[in-house]
Amino acid sequence: MFEAVKNSEKQFRNLVNGEWITSMNHQFIDIFSPLDQRLLGRIPAMTTTEVDGVIKAAKEAQKQWKLTPVSERATILNKVADLLLEKVEEIAYLMMLEIGKDRKSASAEITRTADFIRFTADSGKNISGESISGDRFPGFKSNKVSVVTREPLGVVLAISPFNYPINLAASKIAPALVIGNSVVLKPATQGSLSGLYLARIFQMAGVPAGVLNTVTGKGSEIGDYITTHKGIDFINFTGSTDIGRHISKLTEMVPLLMELGGKDAAIVLEDADLEKTADQIVAGAYAYSGQRCTAVKRIIVMEPVADILVSKLKEKISQLKVGNPLEHESLDVVPLIDERAADFVTELIEDAKLKGANLVIGGARKGNLIEPTLFDKVTVDMRLAWEEPFGPVVPVIRVKSKEEAIAIANASEYGLQSSVFTENINDAFYIANQLEVGTVQVNNKTERGPDHFPFLGVKASGIGTQGIRYSIESMSRPKATIINLQR
Ligand code: NAP
Ligand code: G3P
Repeated sequence: MFEAVKNSEKQFRNLVNGEWITSMNHQFIDIFSPLDQRLLGRIPAMTTTEVDGVIKAAKEAQKQWKLTPVSERATILNKVADLLLEKVEEIAYLMMLEIGKDRKSASAEITRTADFIRFTADSGKNISGESISGDRFPGFKSNKVSVVTREPLGVVLAISPFNYPINLAASKIAPALVIGNSVVLKPATQGSLSGLYLARIFQMAGVPAGVLNTVTGKGSEIGDYITTHKGIDFINFTGSTDIGRHISKLTEMVPLLMELGGKDAAIVLEDADLEKTADQIVAGAYAYSGQRCTAVKRIIVMEPVADILVSKLKEKISQLKVGNPLEHESLDVVPLIDERAADFVTELIEDAKLKGANLVIGGARKGNLIEPTLFDKVTVDMRLAWEEPFGPVVPVIRVKSKEEAIAIANASEYGLQSSVFTENINDAFYIANQLEVGTVQVNNKTERGPDHFPFLGVKASGIGTQGIRYSIESMSRPKATIINLQR
């Protein structure tokens, strides 16, 4: 099934107008495994001429796709979900090799994606317009009626990050397709192989030629060209705040949906159930080595309970499973995606040590594998208090009052999610109401799911709202046709 995607020399191809196309100028990028540096494949570094061809095909195909009945589009998506589940082991194995995710978590990502796609198919069928009578506005009568339908936007450029190469590609593609857009997928370079397999599944399920296409190449080389291309009608981007900001400065008059970085705080009050709180924080902070936008990235705790919380965290962190996914089916902490990522986390650790934070546990590094690390008594002059490590290191910041906790939480440039741990619903709402984030979790780790909930970041964490129905609405627009009845 996946043979079409690559040749025998592991040269991968792009899906363009229904064909699997190799590089026109024979330029390829080698993809190595972060686990053992083995060569996994070579992806085409597409030229600007090739990108022009991709977008032209997407534009042309969308004209017919938007006329395809939504029930047929939904049937194809349900088939995508079936095929994903059939191929879960094969794709999970590839993901493990390509992005270093342990096999159990990779399989869970694929299963979740199949559920996401089915839910999207159902939601797409249930998206409806409305009719609005003119007489609701002063001076108008009911002979004027606005019939409001939803229209696709055209060609959606989907740019996905490395950490969820299946989920964060499919959660852009499926909602875009169900409402009648065509899609150009530009996967993260490290994550491209998984992204191309995913595209193959959409093709096998019956997505017509040109409706889903792929572009591979380094974002630093091809990114500006593709994001400013006149043929792109919408950009759905997930990745770092730096790149998101760069794209939003460069683009003009193109609507954007962006999921960016985060520094999610877990705020722990004196009356919290500290055992459960510690369980949630450890699960939220260290899964996939903290390489998740929604990972708990700082703990803000009331001074009187800080010692007990820290000792519980230490005990639970010491029980985390750390290692190489090639040797274990299920792990919490795995090697980071590349050396640059590990070097960055090391810098944050060194800065915290230098400035006097207490190293509670961890801190050691072997290659790209960094032990799960916790620092206590982190202060606001330390980089770890503010920067997103995208690695397994978490600061504990001690505070004296709820107001101080809120002030520190809100002083971050990011605003993705926060957690509040307390037994007092009034305190939970008091704090939740003041936090400048897209979502507040009460007595739970920060996390995205379930995927039909709205998911958004404020400030430097994003633009617009995801979540199945929200994503469909974001990638479509109302179209008003006004009937003026003669009376
Ligand atoms: P990244 O380096 O920003 O890359 C994201 C995507 O952007 C990749 O496909 C990358 O391609 C592409 N890109 C790079 N330069 C570009 C340019 N000039 N124009 C267009 N595209 C360009 O992020 P990452 O390291 O893959 O992912 C980690 C980051 O994503 C973290 O900050 C994390 O918080 C964030 N994230 C956020 C969410 C959320 O929902 N809020 C979810 C997951 C991840 P190349 O790979 O070819 O460079
Ligand atoms: O959709 C996957 C990603 O955005 C975050 O998911 O479950 O790690 O919070 P999670």
